[in-house]
Amino acid sequence: MNKKDILVTGGLGFIGSHTAVSLHEAGYRPILLDNLSNSELSVLEGIEKITGVAPVFFKGDVNDPSVLNGIFEQFHILAVIHFAAYKAVGESVEKPLEYYHNNVGGMINLLKVMKKQGVSNMVFSSSCTVYGEPEVIPVTENEPVKDATSPYGASKQMCETILKDVHWCHTQCLRYFNPVGAHESGFIGELPIGIPNNLVPYITQTAAGIREKLTVHGNDYPTADGTCIRDYIHVMDLADAHVAALSRLLESKEESYFETFNLGTGNGSSVMEVVEAFEKATGIKIPTTIGPRRAGDVVRVWADTTKVNRILQWKTKRNLQAMMADAWRWQLGLDKSKIKLGS
Ligand code: WQD
Repeated sequence: MNKKDILVTGGLGFIGSHTAVSLHEAGYRPILLDNLSNSELSVLEGIEKITGVAPVFFKGDVNDPSVLNGIFEQFHILAVIHFAAYKAVGESVEKPLEYYHNNVGGMINLLKVMKKQGVSNMVFSSSCTVYGEPEVIPVTENEPVKDATSPYGASKQMCETILKDVHWCHTQCLRYFNPVGAHESGFIGELPIGIPNNLVPYITQTAAGIREKLTVHGNDYPTADGTCIRDYIHVMDLADAHVAALSRLLESKEESYFETFNLGTGNGSSVMEVVEAFEKATGIKIPTTIGPRRAGDVVRVWADTTKVNRILQWKTKRNLQAMMADAWRWQLGLDKSKIKLGS
C-alpha cells in the first residue's frame, strides 16, 4: 500500500516530535529531518517507544538543497510540515543574522526545492508572537500583525509574507500560543538547552531540584494577581491540530492558498495560576521569588478559537492540570546527565 509520506522539518524538536506521533496515529508516515542544533537523536527512541515504529530520519539542514532534494527523490512526499527554526526570543536579539539565515533563508530554500519537486502543500509553524501586544483580547486571526519585538518574531512574519506571496504553495499557517506539557507516556517532551527561558520547563526543573526557585518576572501588571496571562496549550493538542490542517490540504478543502489559524485553548492563565496548577497536579510546592518585569513581555494574550474550531473541527482536549502532570512525568524520566544545565 502506498505510504502517505509527510516531510517534517525540525522533526526531533519539541513540537515536531509530538506531531510525528500524531501523524503516525493518523496513518501517515512522517519523514523526519533535523540538524540536531536544538534536539537529540534520543528523541527517535522516544517516538519509537510510543508508535512501535522506528521513524525515518535524516540528519540535515533545510538550508542544504542536496539533503532536501535527496528526500523528495527517495519518497513521494505529499506535504511538508515546517518546524525547523531557531525560536529563542532573547537569543534572536543577540544573533539576528543567524536567525534570519536559518529561519527565513531555510524557508526560501525549502520552497525552492518544493517547487522543483512539484510539492505544493505546506503546514507552517508560526506563532502568536506576530500579534505583539494585541488591541483586542481574545485574539482572532484578523488581529493586525504588529511590528515584531524581536528578530525571532520578525522572522516568523517574514516567512508568513513569503508564503502569502508564493501562490503555487497551499499553506495552512498555524499560529501557536504557548505550547507546554509532553506526551502522556513520558517518552518525549521539551528539551530546553541551558537555563530555560520558558515558564513551564523552569517550573519542572525547580520541582526536580535542578533550579533553586522560580523567579516570577513581575507581579505589578494590570491583571487580577499582577502576573502576565498566556494561553497555554498542551503539545499533543497542538500536534493533533497539525494533522487536522494537513487533512484539509490533502482533501483540497482549503478556501484559499494561505489560511491562518490561532492554536490555543481560548483561555488565559496567569503565571501564578500555572504555578498553582502544577502544585495541585503534583503535590510539589514551587519556591518563588518576585523579580523585575522581563523586557518584551506582553501583559495578556489568549486565542479566540472560533475559526479553528469551526473550520478544522478541532479543539483542545487537555486542561492546564494535565499539561502540568504530563510535563512533570517527562521531567521525572529525564536523567540529570541529559539536562544541559548551561551557565
Ligand atoms: C510566559 C510567562 C514570563 C519564565 C515564548 C515565546 C513565544 C513562544 C512561546 C515560540 C511570561 C513568565 C517565564 C520564568 C516567569 N515561542 N515567566 N519566569 O514569552 O509567552 O512566549 O514562548 O513561538 O514566541 O516568546 O513564554 O514561557 O517565556 O513566559 O515569570 O522563569 O511566564 O514573564 O509572563 P512567552 P514564556
